[in-house]
Amino acid sequence: MIAIASDHGGFALKKEIMERLEARGLEYKDFGSFTAESCDYPDLAAPACRAVRSGECEKGILICGTGIGMSISANKIKGIRAALCGDCFSAEFTRRHNDANVLCLGARVTGAGLALKICDTFLDTPFEGGRHKRRIEKVEEIEREEAGL
Ligand code: RB5
Repeated sequence: MIAIASDHGGFALKKEIMERLEARGLEYKDFGSFTAESCDYPDLAAPACRAVRSGECEKGILICGTGIGMSISANKIKGIRAALCGDCFSAEFTRRHNDANVLCLGARVTGAGLALKICDTFLDTPFEGGRHKRRIEKVEEIEREEAGL
């Protein structure tokens, strides 16, 4: 199950991505927004990312105008490794090396055709593990240290 959410800036692209997921036979849960009315990206990012953290969804896709607000918000949620990607190389390597569990896209930056390829790459690329696991554990250590402040 893939969690998907957008603000108004990403609303149209979210619809295209959902159509792509359906065409690929991949299940998703839409956390909104459900209209193109102006809304606040943290309100959409948080529930989608919490569904990833809980295990209800294995990965997430978040879209706003630049992808930046969504990525800032997503990375505040414990256990979330969100990557803002505007190219397929980044999407591939954030899976292989960072085990990113949330993909952020900027609908006003990245065209729909490329965005769909980025989604495919992100969803289809496995984590390599090995030395990259140690680095992720160090990131999690920072998270624990900061939580104790
Ligand atoms: C909304 O206008 C815009 O600020 C939002 O979609 C996003 O780009 C924020 O990072």
